[in-house]
Amino acid sequence: MNPSIENIKHILVIGSGAMGSQIGMVAALAGYRVTVQDIAEDMLARAKEQLTSRMQANVAKGRASQEDADAALGRLTFSTDLAAAAATADFVIEAATERLELKQHIFTQLGELTPAHAILATNSSTLGSSKVAEASGRPQQVCNMHFFNPALVMKCVEVVRNEATSQATVDTTLELARRFGKEPVLINREIPGFVANRLMGAIQKEALALHAAGIATLEDIDTTAKTALGHPMGPFELMDMVGLDVIDFIAQATYAETNDDADRPNPAITNLVARGRLGRKSGRGWYDYQ
Ligand code: CAA
Repeated sequence: MNPSIENIKHILVIGSGAMGSQIGMVAALAGYRVTVQDIAEDMLARAKEQLTSRMQANVAKGRASQEDADAALGRLTFSTDLAAAAATADFVIEAATERLELKQHIFTQLGELTPAHAILATNSSTLGSSKVAEASGRPQQVCNMHFFNPALVMKCVEVVRNEATSQATVDTTLELARRFGKEPVLINREIPGFVANRLMGAIQKEALALHAAGIATLEDIDTTAKTALGHPMGPFELMDMVGLDVIDFIAQATYAETNDDADRPNPAITNLVARGRLGRKSGRGWYDYQ
C-alpha cells in the first residue's frame, strides 16, 4: 500500500549529521512537517543550531523572508523518540551511519513502527536498499533516495530501485524529490556507487594518480579542474569537503562488492584517515584548514 504524493504530510529523517539535517531542512523548506530523529541529543542540538544560522544567513542575503525562514524552522522538530515520530510518518529518509547492521535494525524498527503506507528510503550512497528491504517487511516500498553534499544546495537526487521496489514507490519518490526543488534521476539497477559516485570516483582516481606520480601539485590539479573543466571544486577540495573517511568507506564498500582490482581503495587516502586527517571537518585533510 503506497501513499500517493498528496498524502505525504509528515517526513521522518533518521540521523542528524551533515546529510540528515540538511535533508530535513530541504523538506521543511518545501512545506512538509519534518522530524529529524537521532539517538544523540548533542548531535540534534548542533543540527538545530547550524540550520538556524543557515536560515539566518539566507535572510541576511535576501534569499528568504524572515517569515518564511521562521515558518520552515517551525515545521522542523528534533527528537530522540523514534517510536513517536515513526507513528505518523508518511515517508522516511534514513541517513544514519553507513553500517549495514545498524541500517537493518533501523529498517526492522521502521517496518514495525510506521504506518503501512509509508515509503522507507535510504540516503545511503553505498548500500543498495535491497540489503535492508526484507528487514522492513515491505520491500516493495523501499528504495534509495540519495542526496549530495551540501544537500541544501545540490540539485541531484539519485532514486535507485531494487528488484522489489514497486513502480508506485519509484514514482512517488521521484515526485517528492521534485517537490523538494531537486532534479531527481532514476537508477534502474543497484550498482556500487550508483552513477554520481562512479563519475566522481573516476576523476578522483586520475587526480590521485597524477599527484602520486608528481606530475602536478594538489593545488594545480584542483585549479585545472576548475578553470579548464568548469568544476566548482577541484577533486582534492571535494574529497576534503565530503570527508576522506567517507571517501575511503565508499571505496572499501565498493571493493568488497566488486572485488575488482580497479576499485581497490587508494592507500594515500586510507593513510590520511588513519592519521586523523579527515578533511575539513577535522581541520586537516589534503589541505590544512587550521
Ligand atoms: N551547506 C549549505 N549551504 C552551503 C554550504 C554548505 N555546506 N556551502 C555553501 N553553501 C551555499 C552558500 O550559502 C551559498 O548560498 P547562496 O547562493 O544562497 O548565497 C551557495 O551554497 C554558494 O556558496 P559559496 O558562494 O560560498 O561557494 P561556492 O559557489 O563555491 O559553492 C558549493 C559551494 C555549492 C559547495 C560548490 O563549491 C559546489 O557545488 N561544490 C561541489 C559539491 C559536490 O560536488 N558535491 C557532491 C559531493 S559527492 C556526495 O555528496 C555523494 C556522496 O555520497 C559522498
